[in-house]
Amino acid sequence: METINEVTTLERGEIAVITLNSPPVNALSAKVRNGLAAGFKAADEDPQTKAIVLICEGRTFIAGADITEFGKPATESASLFDVQKAMEDNSKPVIAAIHGTALGGGLEVALCAHYRVAVPSAKVGLPEVNLGLLPGAGGTQRLPRIVGAAKALEMVTSGQHVPAKAALAMGLVDELAPEGDLRNAAIAFAKKVLAEKRPLVKIRDNDAKMIEDRKHPEIFAEFRKANARKFRGFLAPEYNIQCVEAAVNLPFDEGIKVERKLFVELVTGTQSAAQRYVFFAERQVWKLPDVPEDTAILPVAKVGVIGAGTMGGGISMNFLNAGIPVTIVETSAAALERGLGVIRKNYETTAKRGRLTMEDVEKRMGLLTGSLEMTDLGDADLIIEAVFENMDIKKEVFGKLDAIAKPGAILASNTSYLNVDEIAGATGRPESVIGLHFFSPANVMRLLEVVRGDATSKSVIATSMQIAKKIGKIAALVGVCHGFVGNRMLSMRQRQAQAILLEGAMPWDIDRVLYDFGFPMGPFAMSDLAGLDIGWNKETSKGETLRDQLCELDRRGQKTGAGFYDYDEARNAKPSPVTADLIEKFRAAKGVNVRSFTDEEIIERCIYPMINEGAKILQEGKASRASDIDIVWINGYGWPVYRGGPMFYGDTVGLKKVVESLTRLAKEMGDEWAPCELLVKTAEAGGKLSEL
Ligand code: 3HC
Ligand code: NAI
Repeated sequence: METINEVTTLERGEIAVITLNSPPVNALSAKVRNGLAAGFKAADEDPQTKAIVLICEGRTFIAGADITEFGKPATESASLFDVQKAMEDNSKPVIAAIHGTALGGGLEVALCAHYRVAVPSAKVGLPEVNLGLLPGAGGTQRLPRIVGAAKALEMVTSGQHVPAKAALAMGLVDELAPEGDLRNAAIAFAKKVLAEKRPLVKIRDNDAKMIEDRKHPEIFAEFRKANARKFRGFLAPEYNIQCVEAAVNLPFDEGIKVERKLFVELVTGTQSAAQRYVFFAERQVWKLPDVPEDTAILPVAKVGVIGAGTMGGGISMNFLNAGIPVTIVETSAAALERGLGVIRKNYETTAKRGRLTMEDVEKRMGLLTGSLEMTDLGDADLIIEAVFENMDIKKEVFGKLDAIAKPGAILASNTSYLNVDEIAGATGRPESVIGLHFFSPANVMRLLEVVRGDATSKSVIATSMQIAKKIGKIAALVGVCHGFVGNRMLSMRQRQAQAILLEGAMPWDIDRVLYDFGFPMGPFAMSDLAGLDIGWNKETSKGETLRDQLCELDRRGQKTGAGFYDYDEARNAKPSPVTADLIEKFRAAKGVNVRSFTDEEIIERCIYPMINEGAKILQEGKASRASDIDIVWINGYGWPVYRGGPMFYGDTVGLKKVVESLTRLAKEMGDEWAPCELLVKTAEAGGKLSEL
């Protein structure tokens, strides 16, 4: 075995084997590129070598370019193109042996081998789009030449990981190797190539599929149209499409030029910077600064849920989906029946859409037990309370739980705003109490805010994070404060939206600006969807707020066909003259000097106070780092991932500008809107929130 460099070895022979070992995922860092370029050159020049196998050690084949290198100055090392040329133009057949994941640049390297062998568990794909990028090493030109434009469009714009078997069927892989015997199988395949005198296949030279695709230029427009909603606001999907179009319409080398130009544009742009930041933020969020990795994890084999309403039902589904039995407790048979019925109906709807079999539905329902007795939760390892948002009721429930739950059981509350420490105080075991704040619909939304109380034990925290992973959530650990991270920041946006409505902007103007910013909907459309009458009471309503007035007119949101907007049968929203009239009268009654707002002002007023609140949360230590806050907003509130989250967005706007704007706002609306110390200090130091 010959050492090429610290991550590459070459085993010479008739079939030379180049082995890459650069943990954790063999990403194409400078040293990997250097090792590969030199290894292929050495094997090419070795007269005894007839064919070359490339294989990786560790958990995976090459998982792509080294994302940490993007945005840093180029080095003297071999480029990815040098590596690919050393493979594709090699005078000897090159076979890529794939296990784990061949992703992005990893697959692009494999596509420069003349043949590919993979174990059945392997997956291949071009997920660059999820980093706001496109495959920048020929992937957009080589992939369509194998799989055709239609399939290529799907793969590059979704970033899907294609299992080896499907890759074989598409021609992306030439042969499957037995699991666990990849190296021998790849060597045997290389011998076969030699014995059968197979050609050195260069994907770049095969235009057959492109010539065929040229006859159907309409597929591109159709694809754009079909995915317009999904791609809204993102640059990368459109750029990926343009590259595949270039593959179909231009010679290979010209197509590569288009790919390069668009790649450079993306990789130097803000969207990709944001999405790369989110990639690392999603991994960072699991690392807890003061909870060691070896903290004891408590077993969670049985779960109890209290309250079978909107949240309790959705929460239960998460555990049933993961095969964990759930006992759900209600106060009345009717409420229980209704709750169980909703769960069943949700599953059956999924089955009708073909995403579950009826057998799966029954299996899940079979794991669910309904009860009217809290004492049935005595053997649960984790109990999640999802009753009404009322401190007295919650305290009563936790007091009872204290007497019922087995020692060591985790007692969690799904409260949206209430003080978890106060709830924990209702028990004699506050170390076992934690907030597990799911988002609605709880079986769909990815976010879980894990709210640590003053006394919550590290084991309970670590177990909660682990269970979140098990049920497919992304969890952010936060501290106790009103509304925690997400709702606390949301309330800033809501208050400002209300304020600018009073000062002169219309609900549909504010909603349009926030929709165009990238949110799924604006605050007023969201209120209409949720129902304006949440917390409103007909008997006590005094018409003091706009909300009261709308509800008094029975404009209680989408469900009554009218709220801030008017809705047609298909629930399409239209600005409402009734609402406009109410607003004008309301402003007049308050004696407001009405003025107009630019789109930028609406953004400043709605978003900058959120950035400030995020900074306050950091200042108070209620979140460990800014990127955790961004994870909350992306996964819980539809913050557009291409803007990286509110903290990252603050950096892209420029913190000085944010501080100036908030200082002006504080003069108009009072000191509570003034930029906090941490924000001011970071801005003055030229620092970034996203690095805190
Ligand atoms: N570059 C740098 N670091 C990477 C990386 C990459 N491409 N991929 C993963 N890592 C790091 C992670 O940050 C993590 O680091 P940490 O342990 O310090 O947190 C570590 O490797 C392990 O990653 P995961 O925790 O994600 O491990 P999993 O086993 O869950 O997943 C994976 C493995 C499926 C390979 C997943 O890491 C992944 O999807 N990676 C990114 C793949 C990708 O997007 N490739 C395309 C890159 S862009 C490109 O290739 C451009 C080219 O076209 C020019
Ligand atoms: P809901 O009103 O739909 O359901 C509450 C259920 O709890 C009702 O079915 C009620 O009968 C039951 N219940 C009340 N007291 C009980 C008791 N002592 N024992 C057993 N069952 C009892 O309310 P929802 O929306 O599910 O909210 C529940 C909790 O989740 C609240 O704390 C809320 O703040 C929180 N939450 C709500 C979200 C939402 O969007 N609805 C999002 C995140 C959290």
